[in-house]
Amino acid sequence: MTLPQTVRINEIFDETRTVRTFVLDAEVQKAEPGQFVMLWLPGVDEKPISIAHPAPLTLTVARVGPFSTALHECKVGDRVGWRGPYGRGFSLRKDRPALLVAGGYGAAPLYFLATYAIECSVPTTVALGARRADDLIYVDRFRSLGIELILATDDGSVGHKGYVTDAILQFLTSNPQCSNLQPALYACGPELMLVALHRLCREHGIPGQLSVERYMKCGFGICGQCALDGYLVCQDGPVFDVGQLDGLSDFGRTRRSATGRRLPIQQPVTGNQR
Ligand SMILES: Cc1cc2nc3c(=O)[nH]c(=O)nc-3n(C[C@H](O)[C@H](O)[C@H](O)COP(=O)(O)OP(=O)(O)OC[C@H]3O[C@@H](n4cnc5c(N)ncnc54)[C@H](O)[C@@H]3O)c2cc1C
Ligand code: FES
Repeated sequence: MTLPQTVRINEIFDETRTVRTFVLDAEVQKAEPGQFVMLWLPGVDEKPISIAHPAPLTLTVARVGPFSTALHECKVGDRVGWRGPYGRGFSLRKDRPALLVAGGYGAAPLYFLATYAIECSVPTTVALGARRADDLIYVDRFRSLGIELILATDDGSVGHKGYVTDAILQFLTSNPQCSNLQPALYACGPELMLVALHRLCREHGIPGQLSVERYMKCGFGICGQCALDGYLVCQDGPVFDVGQLDGLSDFGRTRRSATGRRLPIQQPVTGNQR
């Protein structure tokens, strides 16, 4: 196992009332979009966080519990530890347009993927979903890449009123380019959104890759904590092809707690972006 390197927090940005971005004095060599690092707060905990940008290492974190609250209390100049990168990231298909779909902080790893897709000249559309307009993150960053954006909010305060998956369905059926060549779909967000996207991909024959989360301890395949049916999410994922998720009994239904107890998957506390 690689030991964590401790580094300075160089910058902190507020994205929303509950989501903050941290720029660390570190660079991740050979990171793929969709991979994660294990972020360590000495005396608190160590948690997996997706790479939003590898150089400098940038992480976007929602405040939901003890670890993320302690991180949000950090100031510029404080030190944190990180190790990685870990996991299987997105594999960009260069033969099809890319449709990136994010809920919540899932926009951060997809921003990393969007920058890579643009570098590879892959036509890219990004769909972002949130409860309300002020819960959307990374909108200006995606706009500054010149990418077509589809926005969806539960209350209709911006973009499509309703689920992001419905907005995508409209995009797919109304866009003549999509009937000639289906895009490949890449998604990161709450699991119930991923379940809806899995169904959409299977029903419409769209190739898709979905980033799935499970509680992690080691981050590299030793402890077995992150099991998803027969897979280890930290090693076989977090990004899975839609076909790998077909028929899994845990996907969209159960996750494990820190103690390994099976818990039902409920609507996410940070927003419902199905
Ligand atoms: C591969 C991977 C990548 C991840 N990337 C990111 C990232 O880029 N940014 C980020 O903020 N988090 C990310 N996470 C989640 C993160 O690792 C922690 O779960 C999170 O920081 C919560 O830790 P905590 O101690 O603050 O809260 P916990 O005590 O673990 O959780 C508090 C409460 O919030 C719920 N909860 C936990 N996580 C979430 C969530 N993600 N959405 C909704 N409810 C939740 C729990 O069920 C619990 O009820 C990722 C997880 C994985 C597996
Ligand atoms: S987190 Fe330990 S095996 Fe995946």
